[in-house]
Amino acid sequence: MSEPVRRLFLALWPDAAVRGTLATVQQRIGAECGGRAILPENLHVTLKFLGAVPQSGMQAVREVAAGAPRTRADLLLDRIGFWPRPAIVFAGADSVPEPIRGLVEYLETGFAGLGFARERRRFHVHCTLFRKARRRPGQPFEPIHWPVDGFALVVSELSPAGARYRVLETLPAPTPTRG
Ligand code: 2AM
Repeated sequence: MSEPVRRLFLALWPDAAVRGTLATVQQRIGAECGGRAILPENLHVTLKFLGAVPQSGMQAVREVAAGAPRTRADLLLDRIGFWPRPAIVFAGADSVPEPIRGLVEYLETGFAGLGFARERRRFHVHCTLFRKARRRPGQPFEPIHWPVDGFALVVSELSPAGARYRVLETLPAPTPTRG
């Protein structure tokens, strides 16, 4: 029998407030950009996509994730973008906060050490809102402030209703000390 595999990725996982704001944006722009809205509970920013990981590789994956910097950052999603090729509309950030860039670099290097392919494209913060979208919506967009306080190891599970993303592990930033 073949070994079970899970489709994994590492992501910034929004809290309920940011998720709710993103869902409101989806409702506002959906008619204009078309396509299929991502389920609000699935919204996230991918930091590193791993793909299929066998059960025997899980511990090494967890170890690399556990060794990553536990980053805090002020992320500002300040634009709605459209990439025609994958046909997605996304909430993106013009500038990537340095701690997030460092985290992505750490993950790329750590997972390359386990044999995962390095991402060839430059990292862009993007939170996909619609797939199979037709166009970038023209309406004004109020930037969304996302206080990042860690990241998550996430599994993508396929069901007849579509992909469902489930957090396997959260890797929170330590609580800041006062004084
Ligand atoms: P997307 O939002 O740009 O589609 C789970 O599938 C997440 O991993 C999604 O956020 C998706 O990005 C990303 N993803 C899926 N396949 C990928 C691939 N081959 N390379 C990089 N990212 C991928």
